[in-house]
Amino acid sequence: MRTELVVGDKTLSLVQGDITRIPADAIVNAANESLVGGGGLDGAIHRAAGPEIMADLDGRYGKRRRCETGSAVVTVAGNLPAKWVIHAVGPRWRGGQFGESDLLWSAYRTSLHIADQLEARTVTFPAISTGIYGYPVEAAAPVALDALRGGLVDATSVERVTLVLFSEPMLAAFKPALGQMPALPGGGSDQSHPGQDHSDSDHDIEPDSLGEGERSDENGNHRNQVGN
Ligand code: APR
Repeated sequence: MRTELVVGDKTLSLVQGDITRIPADAIVNAANESLVGGGGLDGAIHRAAGPEIMADLDGRYGKRRRCETGSAVVTVAGNLPAKWVIHAVGPRWRGGQFGESDLLWSAYRTSLHIADQLEARTVTFPAISTGIYGYPVEAAAPVALDALRGGLVDATSVERVTLVLFSEPMLAAFKPALGQMPALPGGGSDQSHPGQDHSDSDHDIEPDSLGEGERSDENGNHRNQVGN
């Protein structure tokens, strides 16, 4: 089963591994709204990076910072093999009827948009929300892949996005979802996954517009998702 999807002259790929050890221009973290660190990958990222990330979070966004679910912010990467860490806040799984897929889609798409604005060429993503936040991986995979593929279509700097799955079962769950990606509609931007309509949310953090994400409506027209 394939682990790569070619998107024009760009690539979306799946690998198994530890995202803290794989070099990339930008590494995406699975954070929480308070941006204060945590368990899971968030803890591993802060440990591997050293204190620089927390200091940068404090400096850029203040001690009382907050990043809405579905959005993301950037910091330096400390000792990680990257230039930036993009802290994405995915949704907690509450059964699937509370806009979780839209929020997960937005977390991926916003993060990729931020990476592209930073002129990153390579970006690594974890399976956001599939750990402590309990999002079933089989449900998360198609949402993640749809958001990333569409974001790659629109990207001007990012050339390669790699989803780094922490375990063999996680990788095995993502592979069929990659194989079942529907074809992109003729030429232009992607279409979003079904059931997408949720209202724009206000954000407390607007880091030089880096918190902006965008999402296609049913007609393929982009609208701002966050940050304004
Ligand atoms: N490399 C790649 N993937 C990893 C790594 C790693 N080093 N460590 C964990 N993972 C995977 C998990 O297996 C899971 O599939 O990342 C995915 C996301 O898991 P979590 O880190 O638990 O993140 P999430 O489910 O989004 O929950 C976020 O957890 O750490 C806290 O502060 C964070 O409160 C927030 C919540």
